[in-house]
Amino acid sequence: KNICILLSGSGTNLQNIAECISNGEIENAEINLVIADRDCFGLERAQNLGLKSVLIKKGKNFTENLVNEIPENIDLIVLAGFLSILNKEFFTQISIPIINIHPSLLPKFGGKGMWGNHVHEAVITENATESGATVHYVTEEVDAGNIILQKSVQISEGETAETLAEKIHKIEYEIFPQAINLILKKLQNT
Ligand code: GRF
Repeated sequence: KNICILLSGSGTNLQNIAECISNGEIENAEINLVIADRDCFGLERAQNLGLKSVLIKKGKNFTENLVNEIPENIDLIVLAGFLSILNKEFFTQISIPIINIHPSLLPKFGGKGMWGNHVHEAVITENATESGATVHYVTEEVDAGNIILQKSVQISEGETAETLAEKIHKIEYEIFPQAINLILKKLQNT
């Protein structure tokens, strides 16, 4: 099955997914294209991994350019730290499954403005005892699609947004490949 990955940041999840494909943890999959919406290290990582990549900067005709760039043969779109919000126009033209990973236990600490360390800061400010990561389907409403997999982490004494981000990244590297496998298997059976 063919995967297209969209990102805006460092791309450690991209790197992990690529490694899981190489070592067989993700079966029968290939990353056909990486799309970034800004200059970011993820783009460089894609190039270092020998993956085809393109930069589509935000701005005029962004959705149209994005849709045009996604090849016909793609089976699954994976948002791996992608910060642009996909709009109605996008969803009317793209009907394959789209999944995202979010660094909290959705529906808690999700929605517009809840990205990166903003999420972890909000979790700590609220004195939550746990947080985690969620892989979910992407719909027009931000962070509100059906949940595929979720894993929690405990918040320690003196936890900071940075230490929490690091902890959550580690569980992202477990559940994102697992979720991709689940979906690809489901797609194979249809
Ligand atoms: C992850 O924490 C993910 O939950 C969020 O963006 C971050 C991407 O990290 N959506 P990276 O670029 O894969 O390191």
